[in-house]
Amino acid sequence: MSKRVGFYGLISFLLLGYVFFILVQRNGRLLKDDIPRMFMRRSCKKVDEIKKANSSTTTLSEIQQVLNLQRRIIRNEMMDYQYPNEGYQRRNVTKLRDLLIAENGNPMRSVIVARVRSGSTFLGDIVAAHPAVFYHCEPLLDFGKIRITDPPLTSQALKNLKRLLNCEYADLDHYIEHGKTEYWNIRFNTPLWTQCQTHPSICHDYRFLSGMCKLFPFQSMKIARLRLHIAKELLDDKKLAVRLVLLVRDPRGILQSRQRTSFCRKNPDCLDPGLLCADLVADYNSAVELQKKYPSTFRVIRYEDLSVAPYKQVEELFKFYGLDFHPNVKKYVDTHTKNDAGDVYSTYRNSKKAPFHWRTDLEFEEVEEIQRNCLVAMKHWGYVPALNISHQREFNPVTDYKLH
Ligand SMILES: *[C@@H]1O[C@H](CO)[C@@H](O)[C@H](O)[C@H]1NC(C)=O
Ligand SMILES: *[C@@H]1O[C@H](CO)[C@@H](O)[C@H](O)[C@H]1NC(C)=O
Ligand SMILES: *[C@@H]1O[C@H](CO)[C@@H](O)[C@H](O)[C@H]1NC(C)=O
Repeated sequence: MSKRVGFYGLISFLLLGYVFFILVQRNGRLLKDDIPRMFMRRSCKKVDEIKKANSSTTTLSEIQQVLNLQRRIIRNEMMDYQYPNEGYQRRNVTKLRDLLIAENGNPMRSVIVARVRSGSTFLGDIVAAHPAVFYHCEPLLDFGKIRITDPPLTSQALKNLKRLLNCEYADLDHYIEHGKTEYWNIRFNTPLWTQCQTHPSICHDYRFLSGMCKLFPFQSMKIARLRLHIAKELLDDKKLAVRLVLLVRDPRGILQSRQRTSFCRKNPDCLDPGLLCADLVADYNSAVELQKKYPSTFRVIRYEDLSVAPYKQVEELFKFYGLDFHPNVKKYVDTHTKNDAGDVYSTYRNSKKAPFHWRTDLEFEEVEEIQRNCLVAMKHWGYVPALNISHQREFNPVTDYKLH
């Protein structure tokens, strides 16, 4: 009898665990306003309580303990890594130490610049699928705005980005504070998220964040709030040695995708085709310049091209980064490009169809309105206008583009 009770108890326990796991998996991909934050809220409260009762020596020893563990994990993950030797920006990278800030090395830094809802979560996650990547996902969220266009905000934004890329969290109070409630700067960073769940009391401690970050040979960042001509300052910084990718998407696809997020419904700038396409034109002009100036550290990818031929594009991308094509990366592409699953924020989808949903989901009048505002941007980036509703439903909207 008690054996049977124990058996059913175990089954229900496992089921509950499974349901919880599915919920966390699904919700992890959500944006700001849609996150059922109960899980995180709970652990954040816990953080505050523990903080009050903090004794700094136990905190420091806990930090040290987690860092030691993480160091071992990374060493294991990098066991079979093919170092690029002299192939990486004329630096001689032959061992892990060469890439660690903690050991006076310089990590490989990759930055993705994109517009909100242009496929950057997909691309960012592909890059972050490598287990030794420390991923700074959308680090300008604490600025609140969807576009950061003018000084002094732009220079403050750049300062923060450089601090993050150098793993210097000491002066990032606002960013860290924001991360306690809007937690995706942590959630999308898998190694950090993993440690934070078992060690919530140190998760928002700048000493822990700096220490963690400095252990990683690869730093990756995704920014959707800055125009390229601002973000390019990261390329100008020789010491950072950043590789920068501009991710471009058809404005009709971006706007259709934005319409479906509650974040954008509350933020009128977000749905304005004029503003979006002014950004796309400005990005084009900067891209022309950067292509000439930084041919080996700057690159453009169109979301549509990435979706239609993901393996080819991702392989080229990793070559550009000087990164080994890790099995996890291939697995990510395998599992995220074949089937639709999840909600609007999910990155599990049939990638060949995902960029073109707008053709069936938008009315021709909406498409016309976008095209009126976006003719120049579309011409620059190789997107073909739809002529009428039947044309819209079946044409191929993508053609070649040139940076000149
Ligand atoms: C921990 O407590 C010490 C004093 O015991 C205090 O100076 C420090 O600011 C506290 N740290 C945090 C993160 O609350
Ligand atoms: C790079 O490092 C390797 C091993 O330390 C060494 O054999 C090689 O000569 C170095 N190359 C350059 C260009 O410094
Ligand atoms: C839509 O445009 C196409 C291409 O110009 C044209 O062949 C077709 O007749 C048009 N259809 C309608 C219903 O106007």
